[in-house]
Amino acid sequence: MGRRLIAGNWKMNGLRGTGVALAKDLAARAQAAGEGGAELLICPPAQLLFTVAEALGNAPIALGGQDCHPAPSGAHTGDISAEMLADAGCSYAIVGHSERRGDHGEGDGVVKAKAEAALAAGLTPIVCVGETADQRRAGQALSVIETQVLGSLPADVPGARLVVAYEPVWAIGTGLTAEPADVEEAHGHIRGLLVGRLGTEAGGAVRVLYGGSVKPGNAAELLAVPNVDGALVGGASLKAQDFWAIAAT
Ligand code: 13P
Repeated sequence: MGRRLIAGNWKMNGLRGTGVALAKDLAARAQAAGEGGAELLICPPAQLLFTVAEALGNAPIALGGQDCHPAPSGAHTGDISAEMLADAGCSYAIVGHSERRGDHGEGDGVVKAKAEAALAAGLTPIVCVGETADQRRAGQALSVIETQVLGSLPADVPGARLVVAYEPVWAIGTGLTAEPADVEEAHGHIRGLLVGRLGTEAGGAVRVLYGGSVKPGNAAELLAVPNVDGALVGGASLKAQDFWAIAAT
């Protein structure tokens, strides 16, 4: 695998003042640290993308969108296309986050179409999967993950330009994190599916992130799990110090 990827998903948080301050703080830290550590990515809400891109300047921090529409343009009120994200300076797009799947009824088919739109616009899609608490209790975690991965992955992945994020729904924003053994099992299963779909080399090169209440205090343990190639951080990515501590783990 390549460099570890530490991604911050700001979700629906951040106005111009707070967003710019956070981006500038992270940019200064990243510039002082230089290249060589983890690859860093922040995904602010859409209205801040251009402003945050400017605040980041040439700091080694990538920019991503939190969602995109499958179509490049058209009559889709309130949506944003992958092309627009690229135009704003993004190189990544999160698709299929459980909050989109839940709040907006997005199924695997539309997530796959979004991932393909991201690729077509030159972005790297971050495809999110993860089971609910009920599904885990019912012993269905791996089968749910498998259905989501197989149904949500783009048909063709040029140059393994893909990231998968395993985010157990019950661990998101709850302070609960999956046990390392469960994370290892889920990530191992996802790796097997990626290798089956893309072949050993490309499937092995796809980074599989863990997400769900990642914090400075648990990052080391989670990032040490086999097949965990980085983290998708929600709440803790809103504090520069916490996000930086996770990135520097
Ligand atoms: P939290 O880190 O707030 O649990 O959010 C995780 C997440 O959903 C990132 O996409």
